[in-house]
Amino acid sequence: MATSKNDWKTAWITGASSGIGLELARLLDGKVDHVALSARSQDKLDTLAGQCKTVVSYPLDVTDADAVAASVGDIEVAAGPIDLAVLNAGAWQLMDIADLDLSAIRAGIEVNYMGVVHAIDALLPGMLARGAGHIAIVASVAGYRGLPRSVAYGPTKAALINLAETLRTELEPRGITISLVNPGFVDTPMTQDNPFPMPGIISAREAAQNLLAGLKRGKYEIIFPRAFVMAMKALRLLPNAAFFWVARTFLLKKPS
Ligand SMILES: NC(=O)c1ccc[n+]([C@@H]2O[C@H](COP(=O)([O-])OP(=O)(O)OC[C@H]3O[C@@H](n4cnc5c(N)ncnc54)[C@H](OP(=O)(O)O)[C@@H]3O)[C@@H](O)[C@H]2O)c1
Repeated sequence: MATSKNDWKTAWITGASSGIGLELARLLDGKVDHVALSARSQDKLDTLAGQCKTVVSYPLDVTDADAVAASVGDIEVAAGPIDLAVLNAGAWQLMDIADLDLSAIRAGIEVNYMGVVHAIDALLPGMLARGAGHIAIVASVAGYRGLPRSVAYGPTKAALINLAETLRTELEPRGITISLVNPGFVDTPMTQDNPFPMPGIISAREAAQNLLAGLKRGKYEIIFPRAFVMAMKALRLLPNAAFFWVARTFLLKKPS
C-alpha cells in the first residue's frame, strides 16, 4: 500500500461550502498551514474562513476549466504547492427514467466528472514536476452498479471510479498518491430531501473524520459507513440476473 507523506502544508478542497467538504475543512484548519476552499457560494466560504485559522476561500465553479486553473495558480502563488487536493464538489438529482432531462444529465457530467478532470488538469503539471502530491476523488457507492432513478448521478460516479483506477496506475510510480472516496449515505444538504430510506446514514462530521483518517493512511479506497458500503460492494459481486432481481424488488419501488 502506498503511503501518503502526510505532511501536507497546503490543502485544497472543492465543494467546501457545505456538507463533507465543509467539515473536512474544519478538521484540517490549524493542522495544515494553508487550507484553500472552493465552491460557488462565496458567502459561505468566507463565513467559514472567518471562523478558522488557516482557511482561505477561492470561490469558483468547477465546470469552468479556466477558473479552476486560475484558482490553482492563485493558491500556489499565495501558499506554495498544493500537496493535498480533495476533489469533492458534486451534485445529485433524483430522476425517473420517464422524466429524462438531457440538460440535467449534462450538468451532472459537467460538475461531477468534468469538474474533477478540470482540477486534475490544473494540478498535474506541478505535481508531476515535483514527483509528489495527493489527489482524492470523491465518488459514491452509487457508481458501483446502475441504480434506479440515478441516471443523472450514478454514471458520473462510475466514471470517477474508473478514472481513479487509471490515475492510480499511471501516477503512483511517479510519486503521486491517488485516493478514491466512496461514501454511503451522509447527512448533508445533498441528501436532506431524499424521499427514500437511507440505511446507515452518518453525520457530515463523522464522514469527514473517516475521510481524513483514510487520507492520512494513504489508502486507495476510502469508504464510510463501512457496513453499508460493504453491502453495496456485495451487489457488484452478484451475477447480473441476481442483481436485477434485487434492484427491481428492493430499490425500484417508490416510497408511499
Ligand atoms: N451525502 C451523501 O450521502 C453522499 C454520498 C455519496 C457521495 N457523496 C459525494 O460527496 C461529495 C460532497 O457532497 P455532500 O454530501 O457534502 O453534499 P453538499 O453538502 O451538497 O456539498 C456539495 C458541494 O459541492 C459544491 N458544488 C456543487 N456544484 C458545484 C460547482 N458547479 N462548482 C463548485 N462547487 C460546486 C457545493 O457548493 P456550491 O453550491 O456553493 O457551489 C457544495 O459545497 C459529492 O461529490 C457527493 O456526490 C455524498
